[in-house]
Amino acid sequence: MIKGNKISFRPVQISDAEILCKWYNNGELMKHVGFNNGLNTSADKLSANIAKEVEDKDKNRSRRRFIVIENSTDMPIGEVSFGNLDLKNKSCDIGIKICVLDKQGMGYGYDALNTFLNYLFKTYNLHRIELDTLLENVRAQHLYEKVGFKRIGLKRDCWLDPQNCYRSAILMDILREEFIVKRIIRKN
Ligand SMILES: CC(C)(COP(=O)(O)OP(=O)(O)OC[C@H]1O[C@@H](n2cnc3c(N)ncnc32)[C@H](O)[C@@H]1OP(=O)(O)O)[C@@H](O)C(=O)NCCC(=O)NCCS
Repeated sequence: MIKGNKISFRPVQISDAEILCKWYNNGELMKHVGFNNGLNTSADKLSANIAKEVEDKDKNRSRRRFIVIENSTDMPIGEVSFGNLDLKNKSCDIGIKICVLDKQGMGYGYDALNTFLNYLFKTYNLHRIELDTLLENVRAQHLYEKVGFKRIGLKRDCWLDPQNCYRSAILMDILREEFIVKRIIRKN
């Protein structure tokens, strides 16, 4: 368990399939990542998927998912994940969702992101972390800039969504030094 101030996170388990399925199928949540009607997936599919992840003991596996837990209640409230872990160039990309809608806007995303970045920079000795977010997702962009991410580009019409509409995304990244400096400034 990796502990932040308000949240903690732990690796995903097969028993999380039900709750992930409920979250991924919720259009109200998933519209912010481009799936207005949710993913329409099943707990069985997700179980099989998670089983592969859990069984893979390679500590340098290129992608992993973690469940975010609210410290005050021990309830799962979201997920953080990384992908494209590249140990040669010391980089990866990340994703974050606070999936319980009435737990959004309470500072959990900020704490989860800070704690996750700290974990990733330290555990894998990374130099750079990248993400992209839909152009319309200004709430997420605000959060990313608050922890120190910089806008580095606009990917125009990069994805054809399930409604057959082209969507654009903002590309952002943060370097290790920028994260460390932000953290020191914040503590003073
Ligand atoms: C984006 C997300 C991770 C943020 O987590 P959260 O716990 O809701 O966010 P926090 O409470 O930590 O912080 C929210 C910040 O956004 C600000 N905010 C809220 N709505 C906003 C809006 N429409 N525009 C700009 N900023 C907004 C808040 O004021 C707050 O900033 P502040 O602390 O400077 O006042 C979460 O809302 C979420 O999972 N949303 C759905 C999925 C998603 O969009 N994931 C990101 C995909 S790229």
